[in-house]
Amino acid sequence: MPTGFGRYTWYYEIIEEKRGGNVSSYDQKHFDSCAESYETEIGEEYPQWLKWNLLERHIRKGARVADIGGANGRHARDVAGKLACDVVCVDLSEGMLRQLKARSMETGKTNGQVPAPVVARAQAIPLADGSMDAAWCYATLLLMPDQEVAISEIARIVKPGGTIILDIGNRWNLGWIYWQRFYKKRGFPGIFPLSGSAIRDLAVKLDCEIIENVPTGILSQLMYIPFVDKHTPLRRLIHKQGQYPDIDGRCSAMLPVFANRFYVVLKKRSG
Ligand SMILES: C[S@@+](CC[C@H](N)C(=O)[O-])C[C@H]1O[C@@H](n2cnc3c(N)ncnc32)[C@H](O)[C@@H]1O
Repeated sequence: MPTGFGRYTWYYEIIEEKRGGNVSSYDQKHFDSCAESYETEIGEEYPQWLKWNLLERHIRKGARVADIGGANGRHARDVAGKLACDVVCVDLSEGMLRQLKARSMETGKTNGQVPAPVVARAQAIPLADGSMDAAWCYATLLLMPDQEVAISEIARIVKPGGTIILDIGNRWNLGWIYWQRFYKKRGFPGIFPLSGSAIRDLAVKLDCEIIENVPTGILSQLMYIPFVDKHTPLRRLIHKQGQYPDIDGRCSAMLPVFANRFYVVLKKRSG
């Protein structure tokens, strides 16, 4: 058993037991079917760079942390390895977590720290109240009609004074027309972006302070106009390699109301 699985071994065994068993729901089926081809590395375009940068800046070395919707451990593995954290990777897709397991076996051979996989929904996380120093959820909340429930769950498992990093879709962005169609075709009920004021209200309700809010994606919505992404250099222009923030990030900061995403860092108040 690689290091890092420790007390989460039980959840890990569930993955094995359920193989070939239950009929999955639309979201499990979809993510299981993409598991083998899902990106394993953190990309270099600004939005991907930002996701790692927020983790690096807000998570202290050696902390106990949870990646919610962590898929194949794309971020969880680096947080475990580079920040020496004790990481739990929660995801509803057994297929994704099997990929994490396979990659962790490799790391385990070299005695590296690896994340513990937990099969669960973000809306009912099987971790104790206040058991984590920090938790994050990237590229996942947008697909949940009840994302407020998931966000409350994430806040519940983080201890007072701890950090929560969320990636929240912003309502006023044309890119959602494309993604709405994309996910509906695959059996999802749709996508569920929130407005900036809904995010602020949620933070108050959860007794959290917003300590950082980075908008991105105001220009990237143009890529969803038919033919633009394939036949123009737009992507290269707005996401120039090595520019952090890139032009898209700088424009999003000037007009956040039309951004595509908000990367929100919350601090849970200490009582
Ligand atoms: C688009 S991927 C994002 C993966 C990773 N966080 C990233 O930023 O690359 C979404 C992941 O969230 C998981 N997921 C979707 N809905 C979920 C839910 N309600 N609870 C837990 N995981 C969920 C999927 O199985 C998938 O692995």
